[in-house]
Amino acid sequence: VSETGSLSIIVLGASGDLAKKKTFPALFNLYHQGFLNPDEVHIFGYARTKISDEELRDRIRGYLVDEKKASDKAEALSKFLKLIKYVNGPYDSEEGFKKLDKAISEHEVSKKSSEGSSRRLFYFALPPSVYPPVSKMIKAWCTNKSDLGGWTRIVVEKPFGKDLESAEQLSSQIGELFNESQIYRIDHYLGKELVQNMLVLRFANRFFLPLWNRDNIANVQIVFREDFGTEGRGGYFDEYGIIRDIIQNHLLQILCLIAMEKPISLKPEHIRDEKVKVLQSVVPIKDEEVVLGQYEGYRDDPTVPNDSNTPTFATTILRIDNERWEGVPFILKAGKAMSSKKADIRIQFKDVPGDIFKCHNQGRNEFIIRLQPSEAMYMKLTVKQPGLEMQTAQSELDLSYKQRYQDVSIPEAYERLILDTIRGDQQHFVRRDELKAAWEIFTPLLHRIDNGEVKSIPYKQGSRGPTEADQLLKKAGYMQTHGY
Ligand code: BG6
Repeated sequence: VSETGSLSIIVLGASGDLAKKKTFPALFNLYHQGFLNPDEVHIFGYARTKISDEELRDRIRGYLVDEKKASDKAEALSKFLKLIKYVNGPYDSEEGFKKLDKAISEHEVSKKSSEGSSRRLFYFALPPSVYPPVSKMIKAWCTNKSDLGGWTRIVVEKPFGKDLESAEQLSSQIGELFNESQIYRIDHYLGKELVQNMLVLRFANRFFLPLWNRDNIANVQIVFREDFGTEGRGGYFDEYGIIRDIIQNHLLQILCLIAMEKPISLKPEHIRDEKVKVLQSVVPIKDEEVVLGQYEGYRDDPTVPNDSNTPTFATTILRIDNERWEGVPFILKAGKAMSSKKADIRIQFKDVPGDIFKCHNQGRNEFIIRLQPSEAMYMKLTVKQPGLEMQTAQSELDLSYKQRYQDVSIPEAYERLILDTIRGDQQHFVRRDELKAAWEIFTPLLHRIDNGEVKSIPYKQGSRGPTEADQLLKKAGYMQTHGY
């Protein structure tokens, strides 16, 4: 694998939302920080719309920098935009892809890289329905042809299918064209700072090692909330729902990192092997351990059917049937149009046996990892209330990233992950067997929801979701702590 030489990054679906809001800004930040060498790199936008290079640059410019802070990046911005070329064409016929290949080849020659190798990264900011034709066209017309080394890689975004069958079909179609080592399935939660911290936390800290099991942990909660609804993307959302949008991928990936055994090394395959084992140990989800919700007003969106049962909120309990976790509920909860925007992992420990202080009702030890906003880790523990009396109270050990790492700016998930794709590191990407195992867990439940056998309960916008979800948590043994 050559790590120098010309690098072409091709953003397919260049005029779409994902490209504008995530892909191009991440590329710009990488460029600005010196991770994309201007002597090697060229960026191509590809889409159906007929626009000029300049028009594409105008469309994305506003997303690349914060207007208020634009001045210090103005020079980098104009240099970066000059690296972007646009090619238009259809997604399913050769004409556009031949044109694209010609443009890439010209760039490769113009860079006259010493090795003459060719690195081609295709980023699919596209609807999954066109993944198969686009993959075929790339394979036929646009792969790296240099004898002097290099590679061709494709980056695909979720949703990878709608259920086990469609996902497997998609995987086979793409798998016939590219090796697994060329396919990067992005789950952007794996690029978040505190998600990447998970393995360090677990396996580099002595005091977590003996506690991280069913003997000590009462339950684990992985919670995602957004304080806005599905405005503007109701059509997409209604077909998928919150389980496919958030839980089956983002939250399940986090569950794997919390529950997996120690990998034999940090090699991506060793880590992913352990994640697959966790997924394969999850037992079928029971309907009585699921609460679905739909916020009031969701169906006002003209692209959403009036009788939609699509959940915009779900709490599901996953159970891992292995030696470490038997009996410990993993509560996965996600909701749109809730009271706040937050993503947390909460690990709640069991009560202390023989409670001589009679302080059980004050709350349990809990270890909380706040993924966003304001990254933090904190631990709830019981202390003596300062003063003359022997009274106990809950307090916190707090590691807030803003305070502790004041001078470090935390990279965006997409920046890290795109850099990984260029470097050829697949650790933070979802392997085919992992994807399959993830769909195996949720497909039966999703089919029951699609058939209307499990109903969504209405909840108010800006609320905590249906109260039934809190009751489910209680039943699962979660002890509500003050202020949560
Ligand atoms: C996406 C979902 O994968 O993640 C969106 O499709 C959701 O519905 C988004 O809003 C949340 O990502 P983040 O990084 O803002 O938490």
